[in-house]
Amino acid sequence: MSENKGQKTLADLKDESTKKTLADLFQRLAVEQEPEAPDAPPKSMDEYKFWKTQPVPRFDEKDSFKEGPIDAEKTIADVRTEPYPIHSSFEWTTLDLESDEDLDQLYELLYDHYVEDHDATFRFAYSRTFFNWALKPPGWEHNWHIGVRVKDTGRLIAFISGVPCDLTIRGNDIKSVEINFLCVHKQLRSKRLAPLLIKEVTRRVNLKNIWQALYSSGTVLPKPLSTCRYGHRPLNWGKLYEVGFSSLPQGETKASMIAKTTLSNETKTVGWRKMKEEDIDTVYKLYNDWRVRYEISQIMTKEDVKHWIYGGKQQDGKVIHTYVVEDKDTKRVTDFISFYVLPFTVLQNELHDNVGIAYLYYYASETGLGKFIKDEESQELLKKRLKSLVNDAMIEAKKINIDVFNALSSQDNALFLDDLKFGAGDGFLNYYVFNYRAKHIEGGIDDTTNAFSKTSSGVGVVLL
Ligand SMILES: CC(C)(COP(=O)(O)OP(=O)(O)OC[C@H]1O[C@@H](n2cnc3c(N)ncnc32)[C@H](O)[C@@H]1OP(=O)(O)O)[C@@H](O)C(=O)NCCC(=O)NCCS
Repeated sequence: MSENKGQKTLADLKDESTKKTLADLFQRLAVEQEPEAPDAPPKSMDEYKFWKTQPVPRFDEKDSFKEGPIDAEKTIADVRTEPYPIHSSFEWTTLDLESDEDLDQLYELLYDHYVEDHDATFRFAYSRTFFNWALKPPGWEHNWHIGVRVKDTGRLIAFISGVPCDLTIRGNDIKSVEINFLCVHKQLRSKRLAPLLIKEVTRRVNLKNIWQALYSSGTVLPKPLSTCRYGHRPLNWGKLYEVGFSSLPQGETKASMIAKTTLSNETKTVGWRKMKEEDIDTVYKLYNDWRVRYEISQIMTKEDVKHWIYGGKQQDGKVIHTYVVEDKDTKRVTDFISFYVLPFTVLQNELHDNVGIAYLYYYASETGLGKFIKDEESQELLKKRLKSLVNDAMIEAKKINIDVFNALSSQDNALFLDDLKFGAGDGFLNYYVFNYRAKHIEGGIDDTTNAFSKTSSGVGVVLL
């Protein structure tokens, strides 16, 4: 381990970004200097008092093992039937996201406590539609929307969720869930509530005979399967500057930055249109043929595609936006691309009360079908195609007042991030699979410089 006195290591930086883009966005949309190269985990395995007791790979494991579950012996009969004991002033609750009251309480908890913003000026503008999309996909379990309340007042002070999310990891299909929205009230931090929530959601998921879980975090835990980096593409640079998201790079003026980041008004891809319900079958096939490119991907049924990619009942709420390309002659859908929207509310700013934020989600293109990441010639064709698809998606995003378009270095995004002027962010996202051992998967960042790499990543799954 090298000495880096006064300098931040990548591990520090990864550890600081508590939640996805946030720490990142608050600091600046793009960093001028690359973060330091990977050095070491932030603490020793022994200091992970909770995680060292869990079936997760250790930092010092070498990649010379057989991939698969870590604990494959446990059965439902071994799982406790009662919730874990909790401090006497608190009680477990299962949130009913069909009820306005519970939805409002979840909204309030996440609104006030999910963002680590020192000035408390930015808040996630969650909506009912967003929660319905994120927490109620096909097969969702009421029992996996787990909260903790103060017994006396009923106040919700912590939350964790699981939703079904089956995975393929290097050819192995794995029944799994995605764990997300872990949140503890700011005044109740460092009291070991997070491990309790994690154990309780594990217990409830295990009772359904599911033993693996996908989760992601800016925090470094034992042991990331992959690490991706955020990229941010300003669509409305002037506004981002006014709310404090963007700073003026040396040698630039506001006018030059606006000129550099302005997109054309109209999309260019021939046959580009909004996805319709009747496209679900084709998009389903395209998605499933496409995802074999990646070493980890999400298995989707047609119902899943309808929910996650088409938007299902949430179509009108404008959370997920999906476009397809239809061949003019054959009428066949050859490509699709989607992004989801989760804006920020901005407090205490005289000029703006929100920032529109879009996140690149799933896409697929016939251009890359049957080809593999290592095939250079087909990668060049794909690069060209993805550049035009993502550019058009950003033009659509701009039309609905999105100010910044975010994408990770996952999927094939490294092929277009630099060319389409995504600034590399400070934020890193680590991917984990609970109770599963697998070899490291490339996350689209260069091992030594941490810049976006020139080749695609093996991470095909997108977490919210
Ligand atoms: C993440 C959060 C719930 C952790 O709660 P906390 O009160 O700081 O931590 P606790 O004392 O309860 O628990 C600490 C343990 O949880 C682990 N932990 C912290 N953040 C974690 C995360 N995001 N995922 C899994 N484990 C996490 C710690 O590593 C530690 O375990 P260890 O002793 O093995 O190292 C809390 O900081 C929070 O609500 N943050 C804002 C929302 C957020 O960032 N959520 C996570 C999204 S990925």
